[in-house]
Amino acid sequence: MVVGELTQEVDLLVIGGGPGGYVAALVAADHGIQTALVEKAEVPGGVCLREGCIPSKALLHVAKIIDEAAHAADFGVSFGKPTTDVNKLRDWKNGVIRKLSGGVKQLLAGRKVDYITGEAEFEDSRTVRIEGADVARIKFKHCIIASGSRAKMLPEALLPRELIWDAADALKIQEIPRKLLVIGGGYIGLELGQVYATLGSEVTVLEALPNILAGADPDLARPLIAKLKKQMKAIITGATLKGAKKSGSGVAISYSVDGKDETVEFDRVLVSVGRRPNSDTIGLNNTQVKVNDRGFIEVDAQRRTTDKRIYAIGDVAGEPMLAHKAMREAKVAVEAIAGKPSVFDPACIPAVVYTDPEVAWCGVTESEATAKGLDVKVTKFPWAGSGRAVSMSRTDGLTKMIFDKKTQRLLGVGIVGAHAGDLIAEGVLAMEMAAVAEDIGVAIHPHPATSETLAEAAEAMFGHAVHAGH
Ligand code: NAI
Repeated sequence: MVVGELTQEVDLLVIGGGPGGYVAALVAADHGIQTALVEKAEVPGGVCLREGCIPSKALLHVAKIIDEAAHAADFGVSFGKPTTDVNKLRDWKNGVIRKLSGGVKQLLAGRKVDYITGEAEFEDSRTVRIEGADVARIKFKHCIIASGSRAKMLPEALLPRELIWDAADALKIQEIPRKLLVIGGGYIGLELGQVYATLGSEVTVLEALPNILAGADPDLARPLIAKLKKQMKAIITGATLKGAKKSGSGVAISYSVDGKDETVEFDRVLVSVGRRPNSDTIGLNNTQVKVNDRGFIEVDAQRRTTDKRIYAIGDVAGEPMLAHKAMREAKVAVEAIAGKPSVFDPACIPAVVYTDPEVAWCGVTESEATAKGLDVKVTKFPWAGSGRAVSMSRTDGLTKMIFDKKTQRLLGVGIVGAHAGDLIAEGVLAMEMAAVAEDIGVAIHPHPATSETLAEAAEAMFGHAVHAGH
């Protein structure tokens, strides 16, 4: 329903208020570009802030506290068994979202970005129609599409939608199911699976591939898998989903592993089998924008589409579907529109799984280096040699580096351990600065800190990480 009849003209229209879109709008305003942002939700932040990265991290924080409190008994400090007030937990999590989305709204207002609540659809290469807003049409000089992605669902015949949760449903924290099945052992499945397991659900993970977290090197995934095996009822890999049926207030799930069929009942089923780009809902057929066979908008190095005034960034413009990639693309696209010679050409894009322990990597993984036949040297520093890790009782960590054997240039970093997601930033910076092993080894790292494991792994390139055994 179109509410208004107004046609507004803007220099830049941004479609989508997630981390890609709102950053694009803020940066554009800083460049003095008159900007409007259309977002269907009342508040900005996108899936990441409202029902993704941020609420899941809030809940993972709670899960970590529960887990640490349980282990404090090893140091002689005992807490009672935790009780969870689900309503209070949900209110607190919603408060985190409110605070951050309110902050983004303020930043947009402070820069005089016109925030329009409604749904945008292209009429042609210069015009969008807005559903549900006072403004019916916007004519733009430039447009940045940042319409994001949505959860991929399995076929209805296999898994009826009304029987399952997607990540957004799980993040509502309306209940702690007694028995939860997670289908898909990737980022979302493991993060939310760990949250619910710690809050008291009996969690089973069902994964189609032979391993969970298939993108990470096996030695980095190992400490996480070891912990998840203790926290969860079962991690079933190499499984083929056969079907689902309503069973009382729960769901009976049928699957097969190694040719053996099983049917198990669960109270809730979370499906986390990947995401798909939102390129099919915005009228792109009325423009010259090309979409590839996987649904991603085709863009050049400046994030310009095949329709020269229209740009695309974030999940809708290709993998990896990560907020920090979208934020960087936002800056590139705006700078390109402002006439600057900016290109999206990162040395690497870090990946972080925010479970406990966290798993993080950037650049080439060891598996990729082997598959590509690269001439590399891989160095590793187990956290048992880190004073800080021992003093936190968190020796379940490993830092590894992948160097070009000849030039000693850093090609990749992988870390598993507490706060690996923060530590990986040093690897990212080192790669952007084209560091060689010696640069990282001679840089004085604070002691005692787990960041020392990066310097130690770099020194191992020369065969002598000081705190590693022989
Ligand atoms: P994912 O791609 O990380 O993992 C999906 C998993 O489901 C894979 O292991 C896949 O083999 C498995 N799978 C696919 N079909 C299956 C089937 N029929 N039966 C059983 N297993 C099946 O996708 P996920 O976890 O849904 O996350 C989506 C995206 O959201 C991620 O790729 C990432 O871009 C983003 N994300 C990032 C986070 C972070 O940066 N920490 C956290 C959460 C999501």
